[in-house]
Amino acid sequence: MSGSSSRLKECSPSRILILFALILLTFPHSFAQSHPSAKALLKQMTLEEKIAQLSQLPGFPLPEFVQQMGNPEDALRKYGAGSVLWVSDPKEMNRWQHIAVDESRLHIPVIFGLDVIHGYHTIFPSPIAMASSWDPKMVEAAQAIAAREARSAGIAWTFAPMLDIARDARWGRMVEGAGEDPYLGAAIARAQVLGFQGKQSGDPDHVLACAKHFAGYGAADGGRDYDSSYIPEEEMWNVYLPPFKAAADAGVATFMSAYMDLNDVPATGNRWLLHDVLRDTWNFKGFVVSDANAVHSLIIHGYARDGEDAAFKAFSAGVNMDMASGTYLKYLADEVKSGRVSMQQIDDAVLPILEAKIRLGLFEHPYVDESRMNQVLNDPHSPEVARNAVQRSVVLLRNEQNLLPLDKSNIKSIAVIGPLADTKDDLLDMWGDLNKPGPAITILQGIKDKVGSRIQVEFAHGPNIQRDIPSMFENTPMFTIKEQPKQTSEEAHQAFEDAVAVARRSDVAVLVLGEIALMSGESASRSSLKLSGGQEQLLEAVAATGKPVVLVLINGRPLNISWASEHVPAILEAWYPGNQGGNGIADILFGDANPAGHLPVSWPRSAGSEPLYYNHNLTQNPEDAPKFTSRYWDRPSTPLYPFGYGLSYTTFAYDNLKLNQTAAKVGATLDVSVDVANTGNRAGDTVAQLYIHQRAGSASRPVRQLKGFQRITLAPGAKQTLHFKLGPDELQFWSPTKKKWVVEPEQFDVWVGDNSQTKLHSEFLLTQ
Ligand code: NOJ
Repeated sequence: MSGSSSRLKECSPSRILILFALILLTFPHSFAQSHPSAKALLKQMTLEEKIAQLSQLPGFPLPEFVQQMGNPEDALRKYGAGSVLWVSDPKEMNRWQHIAVDESRLHIPVIFGLDVIHGYHTIFPSPIAMASSWDPKMVEAAQAIAAREARSAGIAWTFAPMLDIARDARWGRMVEGAGEDPYLGAAIARAQVLGFQGKQSGDPDHVLACAKHFAGYGAADGGRDYDSSYIPEEEMWNVYLPPFKAAADAGVATFMSAYMDLNDVPATGNRWLLHDVLRDTWNFKGFVVSDANAVHSLIIHGYARDGEDAAFKAFSAGVNMDMASGTYLKYLADEVKSGRVSMQQIDDAVLPILEAKIRLGLFEHPYVDESRMNQVLNDPHSPEVARNAVQRSVVLLRNEQNLLPLDKSNIKSIAVIGPLADTKDDLLDMWGDLNKPGPAITILQGIKDKVGSRIQVEFAHGPNIQRDIPSMFENTPMFTIKEQPKQTSEEAHQAFEDAVAVARRSDVAVLVLGEIALMSGESASRSSLKLSGGQEQLLEAVAATGKPVVLVLINGRPLNISWASEHVPAILEAWYPGNQGGNGIADILFGDANPAGHLPVSWPRSAGSEPLYYNHNLTQNPEDAPKFTSRYWDRPSTPLYPFGYGLSYTTFAYDNLKLNQTAAKVGATLDVSVDVANTGNRAGDTVAQLYIHQRAGSASRPVRQLKGFQRITLAPGAKQTLHFKLGPDELQFWSPTKKKWVVEPEQFDVWVGDNSQTKLHSEFLLTQ
């Protein structure tokens, strides 16, 4: 008899009970998974009530919904609902919940869902900024705070993380994701799911996460939002799907289907995606929600004949819940009655939704407790975490003659200039504005607070930034964000002149330029990446004063800063930094924090180079070939700043790259080590990045692929040896000729350094 079973024999029944209770406390959801009451509840439900659970109602009379089903509140009253979205006022939420619980026959609470993308009250930097930190632990901690705040306010489900790989900066939603790389994207995806959900979906103080938009949305033709994506299967597996797979492996509770056609089949009706990949291959057991109105849009795509066909196609593809279109509510019952959809299929689709409600404890606690909410939202620790997140996300792109950090003892006056220097909303981006953002610290305020009264800070707004066509979000009930007011050309001219004058009479100019929040995000694609609305002219005029200029960029995507990259000595990419933006950026500007953000996207020279990504294949005539090269005739096709790039106020040296084996069998795991030293005179972080290239095989492989990274802190003069693993997970790829995942016996290159063009190289051979 084994030791452990003999020990078990010695256990008294009370000890066993305690043990069982402990297991229950630690893993409550392993038992709740197959909670009998979800099935019991299902047994009592009519077909209409089940279909209501498959419906997510808009929290206001959305015209598209009303057209199909009338007032959403009446629909809720009649049958209940799976979920309600776009309500965030606690009183309003409690009112909706009372309708669901008190007035519907089975008293099943709704799950309130909302886009808590990078914060609810404490607004963290936008996702692209958080990815620039290359710090999954920080991202997890931030999203855990977002989850706690949202949950205290009654939101039990966030429509995040957005996991769309974005290789084209014209696409407005690049800001919502982790950039262009599948490996970094997967690491950030995992961190976000853990942050939002905790160890298990349904954990207290956490929310259900939603991996979106499944899948391929970032590859929209021409970077135009909602446009079709054409992605070959190998590119799906190797590039677009890994972050989603990572989210599924991390236990994400829900997925959201994407809006666009994928290879001519709309993602919301795409059974290959929602069934073959998600359920069959990845064994996903949660539920899928469509994007807003996307079930009905199957008709607009020219994929479904009518509402009935749309309901059938989305449902049979694998969409459990119809977001806001009312199409399931209107047509799905008829599909069952006509025999096209079976009751078993309906039950299978409803069950995970009921189980999620049980796991979340909504039956016990359906209502928002406002006093607890106020306590959570006012946790003094949260702004500190957000400020730290800003410090860790900012990317220093250029710093000639160490202009930064600014030396307070040497400066008497600072000009803070630009249409984004003193705005609050624009620091939060569109989603940050949706929730209940706490007070935002503008860049101007952050600088003033930092320097105190000894240094004179003068502000000039400069010309306003405008979108050419208004944002659809400006007039949507749940958003309060506004565009900057229109100026006459005289007003704009005067503002321009005032700004240059302020620069002229100051010791240093900090220009805060970029994009207003409504220029990035959904339905915010751009054909040009230029600094719009006179900002480029302002920058050039201020630089012409001869004063040292620091350019701080507030934006959701790389912009065309080709001129600045040659003429402006210091450039900081701050993205949309959230409501601690002003403090975190001032910390960086004055050296209280040392920047170490690294780009999660390749920075183009202009919109004409898009799509642009570092992990492309080799061409027959690479850019450095003697002739017939792949470059544009009018400018290099290389990025202005490569993927993974970012400077620091100190310097680092990478050396002594070693492999524990230079020849190994397929299946082996190699150890790669490198020495990293801080060669400057202040402490700082570097992001060590490992890249590989497979030289030949059953398919052409990218010039480089990220396969490991570590962000480390080193004191001045300190040195550390880092180790990375290269095993089957890192070396495999989905081969288009073999139609499966393979690790091939071939020669490989390895590089380690602090960006994707690093030169420190080694190589190894895999043999059969
Ligand atoms: C549409 C967007 O595409 C999606 O990302 C978002 O979660 C839903 N609307 C709900 O707001």
